[in-house]
Amino acid sequence: MKLKPARRIGGQLSLPGDKSISHRAALIAALATGVSHLSNFSTSRDCASTLACLRQLGVEITRDGNTWIVKGGEGLVASSAPLDCGNSGSTIRMLAGILASRDFKSELTGDESLRSRPMQRIIEPLEQMGAQIDSREGKPPITIHGSRDLRPIRYPLPVASAQVKSCILFAGLGTTGHTEVIETTSTRDHTERLFNAFGVSVRTELEESGRRVVSLEGPAEFTAGKISIPGDISSAAYFVAAAMLLPGSQLALEGVSLNPTRAEFLSVLRSWGASITTTDIQTECNEPVGTVLVNSSVDGPLGRDQNRRLVEAMIPLLIDELPLLAIVGTQISGGLEIRNARELRVKETDRLAATVQNLRAMGADVEEYEDGLAVAGPTRLRGALIGSYGDHRIAMAFAIAALIAEGASEITGEECVEISFPEFFQLLETVVER
Ligand code: S3P
Repeated sequence: MKLKPARRIGGQLSLPGDKSISHRAALIAALATGVSHLSNFSTSRDCASTLACLRQLGVEITRDGNTWIVKGGEGLVASSAPLDCGNSGSTIRMLAGILASRDFKSELTGDESLRSRPMQRIIEPLEQMGAQIDSREGKPPITIHGSRDLRPIRYPLPVASAQVKSCILFAGLGTTGHTEVIETTSTRDHTERLFNAFGVSVRTELEESGRRVVSLEGPAEFTAGKISIPGDISSAAYFVAAAMLLPGSQLALEGVSLNPTRAEFLSVLRSWGASITTTDIQTECNEPVGTVLVNSSVDGPLGRDQNRRLVEAMIPLLIDELPLLAIVGTQISGGLEIRNARELRVKETDRLAATVQNLRAMGADVEEYEDGLAVAGPTRLRGALIGSYGDHRIAMAFAIAALIAEGASEITGEECVEISFPEFFQLLETVVER
């Protein structure tokens, strides 16, 4: 696909439902007693994978426009065929937590990318709880031999991962007693918020040391509910960056999730001088939601030279936005250094390698580290041949880089944006002026 540079972007957009919240809402609704209505559900292929797996486990799910109606609480049944989680790490890791407490065997697999991603991080706690899991050297396919006698555990997370935390909390529902997950660095807290919204009490205690202790008492059951899922802030991020970087831009994004464990991207850009405000803040599904207003930084506040290195504790809160942030870093005086971001190497692709490769193709001065990268700035990016590496976030981040570059770019495998945001290119065209 050819991508031409843009003059500016402007207008008003509402974005499809948040992917992280939609996965959790579907899983919770499948377990909850009663019928749940999930409106503005994510249109992503990843969330479609979650729904397909749930159907295969016997859950009745129907659709009315963009509302999904889930009949829960009927008990899950074993699937004779493997459960295909597609490209979705959230699906495989959270579903594994649920299946660990069932007295049947389940095989979970996915596409080539997912089959190369680490699962030992969930196998270890689930085995401590009493499930037995076979894998291909810690990678999918994984076969879960669940147990009705799962034991609660107290588990310090060795990697900052909301997917692992959530896996353990889902498994904790099927135990008798106190399940505790300890985080040294905060990660997104949608599971905690949604469990509480659907009637299962999750406590979060912040210790003086800064550790967060997240806990629940099992056995516990959800009650069905009706929720409207907030717009996806990770999808919004691409538009925010474009509006910030293209002079004369003015953009409003309505109904976006502003959960503080996800909105760090906005705070970082603001701290660099971007004009971003939030208004109309309300609560939906126990989550803050509002309108994000972005104006391009016309008076040059992005030109202030400073040491822009992200603090370690911010990394998990920015994890999906880091490739995009690296691109923004090439446009600001002083550039940007990202470290402690090793996790990017085990996402849908090695996002550090992909970002470095594409930025270099566009003429940026980039240094690659084992756990991060550094970009010099400001640099005028050149149009180039960009690889998506089959990774939706790489494709969208570099589509924005192409808008601010000199000369046309071409991106390969751009259809992968369907993984999280099928409407991306179409919506982008509605706000771009060339
Ligand atoms: C997610 C958590 C993050 C993130 C992923 C979605 C979630 O992964 O990268 O896109 O919904 O919990 P990790 O928790 O493994 O870092």
